[in-house]
Amino acid sequence: MAEISEKKWFEEELFKVQKLESLGVLAGGIAHDFNNILTIILGNIEEARISLPPGKKAGEQLTVAEQAAIKARGITQQLLTFAKGGAPIKKVVSLPQFIRESVDFSLRGANVRAEYSIPSDLWRVEIDGTQISQVLSNLAINAVQAMPEGGTLMVTARNEVVNLNSSELHKGRYIRIEVADQGVGIPQEHHSKIFDPYFTTKESGSGLGLSIVYSVVKRHGGTITVNSAPGKGCTFVIFLPATEKKEAEPQVEAARKLSHIPARILVMDDEEAIGKIAARMLERLGYRVETVLNGAEAVAAYRQALTEDEPFDIVITDLTVPGGMGGKETLKHLLEIDPQAKVIVSSGYANDAIMSDFTDYGFKGVIPKPYMLGELDKTLQELLGGKEEKSGMA
Ligand SMILES: Nc1ncnc2c1ncn2[C@@H]1O[C@H](COP(=O)(O)OP(=O)(O)OP(=O)(O)O)[C@@H](O)[C@H]1O
Ligand SMILES: [Mg+2]
Repeated sequence: MAEISEKKWFEEELFKVQKLESLGVLAGGIAHDFNNILTIILGNIEEARISLPPGKKAGEQLTVAEQAAIKARGITQQLLTFAKGGAPIKKVVSLPQFIRESVDFSLRGANVRAEYSIPSDLWRVEIDGTQISQVLSNLAINAVQAMPEGGTLMVTARNEVVNLNSSELHKGRYIRIEVADQGVGIPQEHHSKIFDPYFTTKESGSGLGLSIVYSVVKRHGGTITVNSAPGKGCTFVIFLPATEKKEAEPQVEAARKLSHIPARILVMDDEEAIGKIAARMLERLGYRVETVLNGAEAVAAYRQALTEDEPFDIVITDLTVPGGMGGKETLKHLLEIDPQAKVIVSSGYANDAIMSDFTDYGFKGVIPKPYMLGELDKTLQELLGGKEEKSGMA
């Protein structure tokens, strides 16, 4: 009996995952194209806005357009969460503060207060911060909507060892996170549906919140379950695998050579408009820039710069170049020429495994598209470790 229900559970689970996957293929493709387009839109709008003399009316309109583009970027981010193989960009974090910040942020302005019971010796986890904070935020927002009169959201976390392998969880150490509200609750017949994309009982709901939660938690090797009955509130229980890894020290790499010349950046992107706007942004930030359209050109330019004793300090490369040498192969060649080469991968496929595990592949940094001046600068500064003495301004 138990075996049959276990099998059924497994089949349903598989079906859910498959459904999410086919949706993901589509979503991933669209999001990638959109991110490339948004890089051009966002970059040019930001540049136009900054170049405008103060007090010009158009500045207001450009700010509105820029904010809309940033919103669009948020939506492609949501789409990408669905995308096939959407590997999280993982970092080791300590959860107590992270959980509080994510939940409190989502409860701003609501008449729901969170109460926390989180020990400070919680094991560390290796997570994609953006995605897990989206998980907590989606749960908190649902709780707020389930308690229109207001109330308390109990957020509990603790260490837990799973001793037996099951179809849900492997043996090991986990963090168990509980998010419990006192709202309207969920009727039993909805329990199997709430994690499905587009299942909603709300007039203005999209029904995506919990399916994002579900796929993110799965991709982190965890599980999520719900306990609820109508009128009894609702408790979501999440298991996330703990990690032995230490929190990463903020790494400031020693500058390769001290120089007062602005850093030189090589940008490789098969789309000319992206290369152009990237170059203008970088020049505005005070860097010297050269752009190329594919990997072969990038390797040639890098080699020539080395022989002329004016090496590139950083290469920013796109991941996929239709019909040409892409980012991964380019990196390989660049590291052959110069094992110290600092290569940053930049793509609209934020879900690509190379983007999430970029260091495993030998990249020194990652910049998801679309990016804005501040983000670009931060990534470069981190890599340059204070080398650059820049001439321009942002
Ligand atoms: N805390 C909760 N209390 C009661 N019902 C809930 C709760 N969380 C989710 N549900 C039920 O599950 C359904 C699906 O939730 P989900 O977050 O996926 O979509 P949504 O909230 O309806 O829309 P969206 O999150 O996309 O705005 C909800 O419509 C609601 O019926
Ligand atoms: Mg929701």
